Amino acid sequence: MSGIGKVAVIGAGVMGAGIAAQVANAGVPVVLLDIVKEGAASRSAIAEGAVAALLKADPAPFMSRAAAKLVATGNIEDDLGLLADCDWIVEAVVERLDVKQALYRKIEGVRKAGSVVSSNTSTIPLASLISGLPETFARDFCITHFFNPPRYMRLLEVVKGELTRPEAIALVSRFADAALGKSVITPKDRPGFIANRLGVFWIQCAVIEAIEQGLEVEEADAVIGKPMGIPKTGVFGLIDLVGLDLMPHVMDSMIGLLPPEDPLHAIHRPQPLIERMIADGYTGRKGKGGFYRLNRAGGGKVK
Ligand code: NAI
Repeated sequence: MSGIGKVAVIGAGVMGAGIAAQVANAGVPVVLLDIVKEGAASRSAIAEGAVAALLKADPAPFMSRAAAKLVATGNIEDDLGLLADCDWIVEAVVERLDVKQALYRKIEGVRKAGSVVSSNTSTIPLASLISGLPETFARDFCITHFFNPPRYMRLLEVVKGELTRPEAIALVSRFADAALGKSVITPKDRPGFIANRLGVFWIQCAVIEAIEQGLEVEEADAVIGKPMGIPKTGVFGLIDLVGLDLMPHVMDSMIGLLPPEDPLHAIHRPQPLIERMIADGYTGRKGKGGFYRLNRAGGGKVK
């Protein structure tokens, strides 16, 4: 295969919609699939909604109306056949191994030979993702870990498995570099790869320190954000952007996967504050706000 002429993204959430938009903006046709929710107006409502939301977002050179036309939306049950002529299929569904693997089995039934399948997982090792799947799948599979928001974050972690064909890695890395403007790094297949091992550590420390010191959300971000090199959002803004509900999944996943002697083990414990906020619906920007509440001017104390 000489290049990537068509891409599929499965999961039209925070990450999937952003990845699809960026690919479309590079002039490459994209299929964006999601699941149909009970009572949805149309069979592809979630994916269509994601594209509409991206068009409404702040002006950004990533999803023009012309690019939007390159995105075909659909649902995973009825429209799986749309994957058949895709050269690269990116999975960006919830961070659950069982859900991802069930999806891979479906993909394997329809994808064309030699197409690359990759996961946007934040934490699940590649070896676990392909466990029990056919070797043909494993040879074409890798992890492509984009960062949030995909259109602005230049880093892309590409993780290779023992069986992954080098050509598959070369294909997506070349495309990510040339078409999407990414800086590709190739971490080892270990929990959290490189960036999340550092990033989750930062977030945990920030929450613990802000509670200990009785800081307001804005105060904490003023200290732990820009001065420490975290752009614009600060740490708490970043948690709201990423989604608080993702945090326990990432932590659980890390705790379950880190060997007992790993020095990061002690740090990766879900914070009760975050669990309480999720239970109250404060899941971040995609919910009714997070540390920066949508119904208040500011964030208030971290407690
Ligand atoms: P999200 O919750 O915003 O979106 C997930 C989407 O997947 C939802 O629209 C859901 O309906 C859909 N979905 C669930 N099961 C499905 C299935 N079987 N078939 C098709 N669609 C299905 O999640 P988000 O935040 O976009 O995360 C997606 C993946 O990206 C996860 O693996 C996460 O760990 C990873 N990730 C997330 C980052 C973030 O900042 N949110 C950053 C980097 C990676």
